[in-house]
Amino acid sequence: MALLHTMTQNPSPHMDTMLLHSGIAQFNPKTGAAPVALPAVRTSTVRFEDLSALDRAIQQKAAGERVVTYGRMGMDTHAALEEVFCTLEGARRAFLAPSGLSAITLAFLGLLDAGEHVLVADCSYGPVRYLDKTVLRRMGIQVTYSRATPEALSQHLQSNTRVLYVESPGSLLFEMLDLRALAEFAQEHGLVLVTDNTWGSGYIYRPLDLGAHVSVVAGTKYVGGHSDLMLGAVMASEDRLIQRLSDTHYAMGYSVSADDAWLALRGVRTLPIRLQQHARNALQVCEFLTGRTEVTRIYHPAFPGDPGHALWQRDCSGSNGMLSVALKLNPEQARCFVDGLQLFGIGYSWGGFESLVQLVEPSALAVHSYWDGGPEAVVRLHIGLESTADLIADLSQALDAATR
Ligand SMILES: Cc1ncc(COP(=O)(O)O)c(C=O)c1O
Repeated sequence: MALLHTMTQNPSPHMDTMLLHSGIAQFNPKTGAAPVALPAVRTSTVRFEDLSALDRAIQQKAAGERVVTYGRMGMDTHAALEEVFCTLEGARRAFLAPSGLSAITLAFLGLLDAGEHVLVADCSYGPVRYLDKTVLRRMGIQVTYSRATPEALSQHLQSNTRVLYVESPGSLLFEMLDLRALAEFAQEHGLVLVTDNTWGSGYIYRPLDLGAHVSVVAGTKYVGGHSDLMLGAVMASEDRLIQRLSDTHYAMGYSVSADDAWLALRGVRTLPIRLQQHARNALQVCEFLTGRTEVTRIYHPAFPGDPGHALWQRDCSGSNGMLSVALKLNPEQARCFVDGLQLFGIGYSWGGFESLVQLVEPSALAVHSYWDGGPEAVVRLHIGLESTADLIADLSQALDAATR
């Protein structure tokens, strides 16, 4: 109601406003009041007043409405979070999943049949290759990895290619992809363009606006924002895709706990302000790193000098705390650098409040054609919300110790 009212005053409110006014509790018709923070509605099923009420619910459901007849689909907390994901991504429907990886799996299994072929950007999140190796192959779905440019991809097109799956900026080295060009390519060849938009989380990057058909987000990262939940979501707007995703989501029994949906809703309200601070901090760390002789390259598209900077300026409205850095350190020195950091936890995730570091495996880089080889050690940093002066002092002492 409140959002509707705001929109009649101002038909295009800013995303910061929309994020706070979508997915909110409805007023109780008896009391005229509503909780500001929607509670976590935990239930495994719903009960109906009588059989006519159940019949009505079944009919509404068959007509495509989000009507709950059993708890797996999730109640008000889940519906609110779905609404927020749709607001973020500019989508008509969102399907929740218990992790980012399970959301990726939903997109692959929902959109591909046995005997079909999918092109995958070689910079995509590593476990996609595991999904391919362990499940897709068994299901008779063929996968080809390629640099995600129309020229490179066109070399691998087959008569049965149906989907183009990409991640922009790519995992590990943050290669910015030209999504508009990829959307044109997908259109020309009748492919469904799916993007992993965990980096942008719908706020700083909106793939559906740029021509993608499906967006996948690991809500575990910036949406949740506090490293305390696992969650994923798949968003789409076209009826044919919504139907396939919906059928697969239901058939595979996907379900998210009400508490995790609640945590994600709570986290997402501060997404804009957190992202701005992560982005500011990351840029300051980039500035510091450029002054260090050990650094040969910084991978962060918001940093001028990154080859993806122009695309980032064209397509993104902000940035975040993710960056990688190539260092002239031998493997032993690189380990000493990472071990020497006091404020960066050694860990795989990102998107929470805290700084994290990951020493990137050379084998993980070798599969990215964006990586130009070389003996450098690559370290991925998530720049958290700590004081940058402290983070920079920490990086500085750890580099000194590693090269001493
Ligand atoms: C880009 C990207 N997509 C998807 C995922 C998977 O998310 P989750 O850990 O929630 O399964 C991750 C996790 O690191 C990621 O970095």
